Amino acid sequence: MAATNLLPYPAATALHPLMDRFGRRHTYLRISVTDRCNLRCVYCMPPQGIEWKARAQILSFEEIVRVARLFVEMGVDKIRLTGGEPTIRHNITRLVEQLAALPGLKTIAMTTNGVLLMEKARALKSAGLTRLNVSLDTLRKERFEKITLRTKFDHVMAGIEAALDAGFQPLKLNVVAMKDFNDDELLDFVEFVRNRPINVRFIEFMPFKGNGWKPTGIVPFADMKRTIEERYSLLPLETSAAVAKDFSIKGFAGTVSFISPMTAEFCEFCTRLRLIADGSIKSCLLFPSEVNLRDALRDGTDDCELVEMIRNAVQLKMEGHSAMAELTTMDNRHMVEMGG
Ligand code: GTP
Ligand code: 5AD
Ligand code: SF4
Repeated sequence: MAATNLLPYPAATALHPLMDRFGRRHTYLRISVTDRCNLRCVYCMPPQGIEWKARAQILSFEEIVRVARLFVEMGVDKIRLTGGEPTIRHNITRLVEQLAALPGLKTIAMTTNGVLLMEKARALKSAGLTRLNVSLDTLRKERFEKITLRTKFDHVMAGIEAALDAGFQPLKLNVVAMKDFNDDELLDFVEFVRNRPINVRFIEFMPFKGNGWKPTGIVPFADMKRTIEERYSLLPLETSAAVAKDFSIKGFAGTVSFISPMTAEFCEFCTRLRLIADGSIKSCLLFPSEVNLRDALRDGTDDCELVEMIRNAVQLKMEGHSAMAELTTMDNRHMVEMGG
């Protein structure tokens, strides 16, 4: 079989989809386009911030598109742009256009904090972005300022409406649920989607470097579901999403989901890989191993060798993530650098 490695690219890639050691095929690439952010969410980065990477340390659009093309040729059909905050990368709509032109790519999505959507939602839609997820952890202005350390609540609320108007329907709204912080707002968020085509997703708080996580900070998905079911009847939805558990509520325009990485992990169905802004491939969000492509991209390495580097990164993937206690001591990156 070693002879297949000698096949000229792209035949070699076509023969081998991105399969890991546990038989999982990877079809979803998350690309973090910047480590910078216009908010300072306390659960995402340390209060003192992180040292931002210099421009030369992060991949150019040309480099990102080159790597993305290789992934798409190996079976990736969905790309999500993340950050930091992806909308603050200069000319982000141009990157969306370039990715949208890749043959074989079905979905180009973005996860954003929504601050700049008033200005950018329409242009992103026209550039070819197909899906948008917005992060918002509270519907209360003062609390928003406590969580994000910035005064942008009104921008985000208007940004959500602008995104709906631009045609991003259904829109997903990510709510990281944190004990004694915002877990008294679950029902408010459910009400928020009564008349809006929004899928609100309650996410269990995960541990990352410098984010103040402790086990008692988690609101387990079963508890969130129970709280919501005291007032609403949740009807399970048959969806293909492996990560979220999805529900509808009779008479509601929106839907409700739970993402439970801590109490009911979904690693068995993982199809995700990550390309970080500095060119590192991460095979798992919650495991530190990486393969960096940046130098190779800049020293004339050919596509065949890049493909081998990508495959090596996939082989480093573990079957699942470690136990909570170990996660807190691992030298993984800050969440803000990885984009979720
Ligand atoms: P869809 O493609 O719309 O399903 O979105 P998504 O859930 O893949 O992406 P999004 O960026 O909206 O992330 C939602 C939440 O899921 C965030 O809290 C992410 O950190 C978390 N998340 C995303 N991918 C993974 C993953 O592979 N593993 C774990 N443990 N959490 C993830
Ligand atoms: N735990 C769970 N989700 C998180 N996110 C950021 N930090 C955490 C964390 N510690 C979410 C953001 C965003 C997505 C990319 O990841 O809210 O919606
Ligand atoms: Fe995939 Fe790692 Fe997330 Fe599990 S923790 S779903 S293996 S990226």
